[in-house]
Amino acid sequence: MSKVTQRSITYVNNSTEPSITEREIDLDTCYNDDEIVIKIHAAAINPVDSLTHSTCSGYICSKELKTYGRDFAGVIIRRGSKVNQKWQLNENVNGQFKHLWGAKGTFTNYFICNPDQVKSINVFKPVKNELTEKYNDFIVNSSWPLVFGTGYSALYDKKQKWNKDSKILIIGASTSVALACVRIAKEILNIGTVVGICNSKQIEHNKAKGFDYLVAYNNKEKPTVPAILELIKEQFNGEKFDLIFDSVGSSEFFPVIQDVLKPSNTNSQYITIAGDKVMDFKDKTLLGKMDMSPFLRKLNPLRKFNYDFTMLDNKFDYMELGAKMIQDGTYLPEIDSVYKFDDFEMAFKRIDTHMAKGKVVLDMSDI
Ligand SMILES: NC(=O)c1ccc[n+]([C@@H]2O[C@H](COP(=O)([O-])OP(=O)(O)OC[C@H]3O[C@@H](n4cnc5c(N)ncnc54)[C@H](OP(=O)(O)O)[C@@H]3O)[C@@H](O)[C@H]2O)c1
Repeated sequence: MSKVTQRSITYVNNSTEPSITEREIDLDTCYNDDEIVIKIHAAAINPVDSLTHSTCSGYICSKELKTYGRDFAGVIIRRGSKVNQKWQLNENVNGQFKHLWGAKGTFTNYFICNPDQVKSINVFKPVKNELTEKYNDFIVNSSWPLVFGTGYSALYDKKQKWNKDSKILIIGASTSVALACVRIAKEILNIGTVVGICNSKQIEHNKAKGFDYLVAYNNKEKPTVPAILELIKEQFNGEKFDLIFDSVGSSEFFPVIQDVLKPSNTNSQYITIAGDKVMDFKDKTLLGKMDMSPFLRKLNPLRKFNYDFTMLDNKFDYMELGAKMIQDGTYLPEIDSVYKFDDFEMAFKRIDTHMAKGKVVLDMSDI
């Protein structure tokens, strides 16, 4: 018998505040034959965590406790007899666990899961770099699976053919998703031109990450759309983008889409992961007043350009590539701040500002 206290950040629905709940579990009996138990050491927070809580209406969701969290890094401390040999005791693992209003989430000290179902899970080895000089390997490796996977999916899922003549525009160049996307674009796919839109204060920082051109969205003299049209005319000889990737929530390019995106028969794409406007993740009435435009646009058969509003899927591919890029130093996630598990409310607030510069991570090593 090895009884422990499982501590998790949970809620019932959007009228209950998140809180730490505890229950006793027996580590020797709490898992099935096809499951592993991971002692979580760190878990990164994503906007989707707040979003799933805010949209969890008491009218449509169960009365059971739901656990927050998708990203994680920890150590396998138990394994079932039918678990694949790949998952061995004492191995360090990280990943992202996709769920909606699930009883299981990763903001818990003991995470029990079937790794074949999680799919986006991998073992990781310690690495020495400027980030691990400052943060431990669990904090670093919990910070990237979801955002790296999302940046990866924007570039791979539509089977676009990339080369040095390709051009992409990323709306929201400072988001963690965009900062992963630009590294993959430059280091792996050799995409010739990556343009980003961000706050003027972030231009130098984002340029160092690989963006070729950056346009400030807060330049009062030159608004974003005319600035991008000018770039196409003056710098690209009129050549438009193969991909517009919106990682923040915007609709400003739709009126001029034929002037910024190549024709649809070239497999050019407009992909958004955030819809038509920056969302208030804390708005509890979000579900009721959800903007349907992105969904209607996605379904519209008369649409004149390729458009998708996507959700990250569970895949091993991006876990493998992310681990390789971290090992060889071609991608380093950015970490905004690290909070103790018990200080989760402050960490959640930081995410909800939309102003975090990198990932906000919960340190769970001492619980
Ligand atoms: N569909 C999916 O599967 C999926 C997956 C992951 C994320 N998402 C969504 O994608 C978005 C980004 O996620 P994330 O975790 O990467 O975000 P994040 O790192 O928390 O993004 C914060 C950054 O957003 C930028 N920003 C805020 N307002 C902006 C604006 N009006 N225009 C341009 N940039 C702005 C800020 O940079 P500046 O200083 O430059 O303003 C800030 O540094 C979120 O809405 C999230 O919900 C969706």
